[in-house]
Amino acid sequence: MDGNGRWAQGRGLGRLRGHESGARSVESITRYARKLGVEALTLYAFSTENWGRPTDEVSGLMKLLGTYLRSQRQELLDNDIRLIHSGDVSQLPEDVRTQLRRVELATDHCEGMVLNLALSYGSRQEILAAVREIAEEVQGGRLQPEDIDEACITSRLDTAELPELDLVIRTSGEMRLSNFLLWQVAYSELYITDVSWPEFDERQFDKAMAAYRSRQRRFGKTGAQIEASP
Ligand code: FPP
Repeated sequence: MDGNGRWAQGRGLGRLRGHESGARSVESITRYARKLGVEALTLYAFSTENWGRPTDEVSGLMKLLGTYLRSQRQELLDNDIRLIHSGDVSQLPEDVRTQLRRVELATDHCEGMVLNLALSYGSRQEILAAVREIAEEVQGGRLQPEDIDEACITSRLDTAELPELDLVIRTSGEMRLSNFLLWQVAYSELYITDVSWPEFDERQFDKAMAAYRSRQRRFGKTGAQIEASP
């Protein structure tokens, strides 16, 4: 969800106003994704590297997250959306953690869509934690090295319960993944738009979906093989 800061600065506003506007896009895109029948939506709200931003921006973002979680509980329930998170949330302020737990518990039974908030998330850190867990299991004799396969690693990531990642959308034009779902992205389609996150609306989401539908996903095979398969 890139481009909040630039969107605000371009209008002579402070960066936090951009994040506030970005939070409104979070609400509308979540609602729209649910309406379109998206099974799971992961939003990269705060990376492990974002802790290095100026203190007032970090605390402003944390406050915004708390406000968002408090205000969205009923909205998520009404739309049958289950909230989960990825990332090391132990670093988040107590109040945000409490709100997060509260909404996760309240929406645990929801089946319409999963909304995964990536908070204090870094993909390398996520993979590292999975590798450590596997190493400990091997050391304890609970897992044999020959049983370590892709599924074994996938099941130890924060996203274990999510379906395969089909599409990654990055707003505001940067051509990089910024430590986001590096394992999961192996065969995902990428859609990068110059539109900033505060300006990313239903029409922009439709454009991303149309681009996704126009792709031929070959998973390493040839186009002819894909066309011949049922
Ligand atoms: C990156 O854009 C965006 C972030 C670090 C924060 C994203 C947060 C939100 C969209 C709002 C809060 C989240 C929720 C779930 C309510 P940037 O600000 O670095 O953009 P720039 O590259 O233009 O400076």
